[in-house]
Amino acid sequence: MEKPAPLVWNDSLITGVPEIDEQHQILVHTLNEAGEKPSPGARPEDYEAITRGLLGYALYHFETEEALMQEYGYAQDESPDAHRHQAEHRGFTQQVIAVRENLEAGVLTPPEALLGFLNDWLMRHIMLTDKRLAAFILARRSRAPGAT
Ligand SMILES: [Fe+2]
Repeated sequence: MEKPAPLVWNDSLITGVPEIDEQHQILVHTLNEAGEKPSPGARPEDYEAITRGLLGYALYHFETEEALMQEYGYAQDESPDAHRHQAEHRGFTQQVIAVRENLEAGVLTPPEALLGFLNDWLMRHIMLTDKRLAAFILARRSRAPGAT
């Protein structure tokens, strides 16, 4: 399997919520860095460190978004959008945890397959899911007193 092409940050990925966009750029950068490292012969300990760093930052980012959902009332009334959004976060987290558990058990997920999944997931999640949340937040912010 070939290595997936690096992700390219571009305006189509901008949600318009600065704190989300900043973290997305860091995630894209993190995935691209990871893509440079796991090559044939990559050591399991490198792989462990990469997935640990990625998981840590992804969890931090999901917390940021989910705190915004609470703050702006997106998560109220068991909104299906919020529910689906959080389920996507959980799904991503579980995939990365499963890769790490396999690694611990001595089974190395092919780095190209993992990176392909991560890249596709992030692009789709930003374009389809995070943008819906961002539109909601931006609408709320534009209504807030003193907002520009
Ligand atoms: Fe999200």
